[in-house]
Amino acid sequence: MKHISVFGLGYVGTVTAACLARAGHTVVGVDINPAKVAMLESGRAPVLEPGLDEIVAKSCKAGRLRATTDPIAAVNSSEISFLCVGTPSLQNGSLDLSIVERSCQEIGLALRLKVQFHIVVLRSTVLPGTIKSVVIPTIEAASGKQAGTDFAVCANPEFTREGSAVADFLNPEIIVLGAEDPSHLGSLCELYQELPGQVFETSLEVAEMVKYVSNAFHALKVSFANEIGSLCTQLQIDSRAVTRIFVSDTRLNISPAYLTPGFAFGGSCLPKDLRALCYRAKQKDIDLPLLRSILPSNQAHLERAVEAVLATRCKKIAVLGLSFKAGTDDLRESPSVQLIKRLLGEGCQIQIWDRDVSLGRLVGSNRQFIEEEIPHIGMLLSTDLLNVIKTAEVVVVGTKAVDQSTLLAALRPEQVIIDLRSSLSDSSGPHATARQQISGQEAAGTVAGLAYSPA
Ligand SMILES: NC(=O)c1ccc[n+]([C@@H]2O[C@H](COP(=O)([O-])OP(=O)(O)OC[C@H]3O[C@@H](n4cnc5c(N)ncnc54)[C@H](O)[C@@H]3O)[C@@H](O)[C@H]2O)c1
Repeated sequence: MKHISVFGLGYVGTVTAACLARAGHTVVGVDINPAKVAMLESGRAPVLEPGLDEIVAKSCKAGRLRATTDPIAAVNSSEISFLCVGTPSLQNGSLDLSIVERSCQEIGLALRLKVQFHIVVLRSTVLPGTIKSVVIPTIEAASGKQAGTDFAVCANPEFTREGSAVADFLNPEIIVLGAEDPSHLGSLCELYQELPGQVFETSLEVAEMVKYVSNAFHALKVSFANEIGSLCTQLQIDSRAVTRIFVSDTRLNISPAYLTPGFAFGGSCLPKDLRALCYRAKQKDIDLPLLRSILPSNQAHLERAVEAVLATRCKKIAVLGLSFKAGTDDLRESPSVQLIKRLLGEGCQIQIWDRDVSLGRLVGSNRQFIEEEIPHIGMLLSTDLLNVIKTAEVVVVGTKAVDQSTLLAALRPEQVIIDLRSSLSDSSGPHATARQQISGQEAAGTVAGLAYSPA
């Protein structure tokens, strides 16, 4: 059993402290608010959560849970400190880290006097990079000690919901543990070993980011459901019946499908159907900003790919993949076609390879589409993958249909690869340093400043 201090006796801190005490650990809660400390000391929870009062009362009675306003004493009497203080929004939307910084200073001052190795666990929600740029330097400055040698800082974001926080803590779906050095996660793993849920050991930044991604997605789901509900109401359609059927598809709808960062969507259905739905909403005078923003978002993603190619300042471009996805020769609203059109307009010389598209097989709407969109497609399309790659300075990979080992074998070190899918970026190889990915926030954010130096 471990000795633990928990900084911040709010919703997260009190639940964390109480549930760890329930599991048999000795826990001291720390808060600057003497009223909260006094409440916990008297065996009552300072926040309202179903089931919390009972756990607090029992744990206090058993001598495993107490509270103090003295951070130095709390750190000295514990081997792990959980940081659960608030991280509110400032007026401009940025995160106010002043409370986190103050707690880190206090922990640092306490560590100045402490001989034993100490683990600090950040449970507050902070933007990726905060632990390395704020938490660790603040503790180091206040303690005069070094992270990794005298103490370690881990990330353990909180996924509980207010109103069912105790039940969520005791029955988690996932437990996310981040550290710079995985060996620092041993004590944390022990703390959670009795709980169900999948444990993910990862980097500090991934752990910090997962929390934001989860909350953004939850907010997105609520707004999506509400916009669909509003549209259904206007159209006098039973939104609950629609939703019930919609969520029953756990292969494409409520599933990991379409949630891997990659290239823009296209094809003959998604853009067309979104446009029609938004038009119908407009006819009904309902503003649905979320649904309305999807096509512009998709276009912005495509533009990031264009900018990434142009940033190389190279003119000879190979584009692997022409149809809107692997396994089809459907070119209608293919994002690769749009990408090529934009690059041709910028004076690039393009060669295209697509396993599934061959001019001879093109009939009907596909042929018409090519004739209208990029009439000189025949001159650009090739069936010879190796030759297309050989003559290019930049290889844009936009299809999963290309065999990765063939691709890696064909690439020369001086060639730049822009991977519009996600899978290739996970691999390593002689060209890994030249490889860039356009998918995902992180990669997309780096596009403007990409260093396209050859490997
Ligand atoms: N509320 C939730 O359900 C929830 C869920 C997941 C994540 N989070 C995140 O967890 C963090 C805490 O959220 P919360 O809702 O528990 O906050 P809260 O405001 O309820 O509690 C924060 C507590 O920290 C105390 N505090 C302030 N300065 C302190 C200091 N120097 N030392 C010790 N204690 C100090 C405050 O007095 C307060 O009691 C935030 O980053 C939040 O975004 C909250």
